[in-house]
Amino acid sequence: MAETPNYQAELVGVFGNPVAENPTGVMQEAGFAACDLNWRYLNITVYPEDLAAAMQGLRAMNFKGINLTIPHKVAVIQYLDAVSPDAQLMGAVNTVRREGDRLIGENTDGKGFLTALRDDAQVDPRGKRVVVLGAGGAARAITVELALAGAETITIVNRTPQRGQALVKLLNDQTPTTAEFVQWPATYAVPDGVDLLVNATSIGLYPDVDGLPSLALDTIRPGMVVCDVIPNPPHTRLLQEAERRGARTIDGLGMLVYQGAIAFKMWTGYDAPVDVMHKALAAEFGQ
Ligand SMILES: NC(=O)c1ccc[n+]([C@@H]2O[C@H](COP(=O)([O-])OP(=O)(O)OC[C@H]3O[C@@H](n4cnc5c(N)ncnc54)[C@H](OP(=O)(O)O)[C@@H]3O)[C@@H](O)[C@H]2O)c1
Repeated sequence: MAETPNYQAELVGVFGNPVAENPTGVMQEAGFAACDLNWRYLNITVYPEDLAAAMQGLRAMNFKGINLTIPHKVAVIQYLDAVSPDAQLMGAVNTVRREGDRLIGENTDGKGFLTALRDDAQVDPRGKRVVVLGAGGAARAITVELALAGAETITIVNRTPQRGQALVKLLNDQTPTTAEFVQWPATYAVPDGVDLLVNATSIGLYPDVDGLPSLALDTIRPGMVVCDVIPNPPHTRLLQEAERRGARTIDGLGMLVYQGAIAFKMWTGYDAPVDVMHKALAAEFGQ
C-alpha cells in the first residue's frame, strides 16, 4: 500500500518586532532544504504584551523551537522551563529548544563567536588578553563565553559607563576572568600585549558602511586577531584597516552563520550544512 504523504512541516522561527527583515530564515531554510528536512522557519511579529500568549502558542502548536530577537531576549526567560547556565549569566536567551514538553532557553550568539574563533582562525581563547568595544547584548554574550573559555583579561571599552561597568561587574563576580572598564575616549589606543580586539558595537552596520570605531589605528598590530560582529557588510572598514596592518580578521557573517548552525543542530539533531547556510546568507547580503 502506498504511504500516505505527510505534508505537515515541523515549525521553528523567530519572535520579534520588527522582524520582517530578519535574515535568519534564509539560511535556516537553505539548511533544511540541503538536508532534505520538511521544516519551515517563520518570521513572526510579536508585540511585548503578546509574548506570554505567543509562548503558549508555541507549545500548543508543537513548534520545535524559536529564536528571540528585539525586544524579547530578556522577557522570554519567565516563560521557559529551564535556562542554560551561560544564558542565565548573560540574562538573555536568543534560542529556545524543546526537551519533550519542556522549553529550554539557550544563547547561541557567544557560542557562534567562539566557533568562528576556534574553527576559522584556530585561536584558543584560553590565556588571551581581550579588548571588546561595546557593552550591549552582543558584547555580553561574547565576553561571557570568552571568560568561561579561559580568557585571562577582558577590557570593556564603552561610551556609556553604566552599561560597561555593569558588564565588568558581571564578569568579575561570576566568571574566572579579570575584567576592567574603560570609558571610550576620543581615540582609543589598543594597549600593548592585547591578543584579541572585538568590535561588538553597531558601528559599521549597513547602511552606515563607512562607520569606523574611534581607534588609534596604528595600535592594531600584526599578530593581533581583530573580530567584527557586524554581519552586513561582512568586510567592514575596521576589518579592512586591520588587514592593512597585518592583523588576522574574523567577520560577523561567520559568527551569525555559526550561531544559526548551533540552533539548527539543537532543533533538528543534525549537523548544520554550514557552507550552504553561509552562501545563502552572503547572497542575501549581496556579497
Ligand atoms: N554576527 C552576529 O551573529 C551578531 C549577533 C548579535 C548582534 N550582532 C550585531 O552586533 C551589533 C550590536 O548589537 P547589540 O544587540 O549588542 O546592540 P545593543 O545592545 O544596542 O548595543 C550596542 C552597543 O554599541 C554601542 N554603540 C552604538 N553606537 C555607538 C557609537 N556611535 N559610538 C560608540 N558606541 C556605540 C553601544 O554603546 P552605548 O552603551 O554607549 O549605547 C552599545 O555598547 C549589531 O550591529 C548587531 O547586528 C551580530
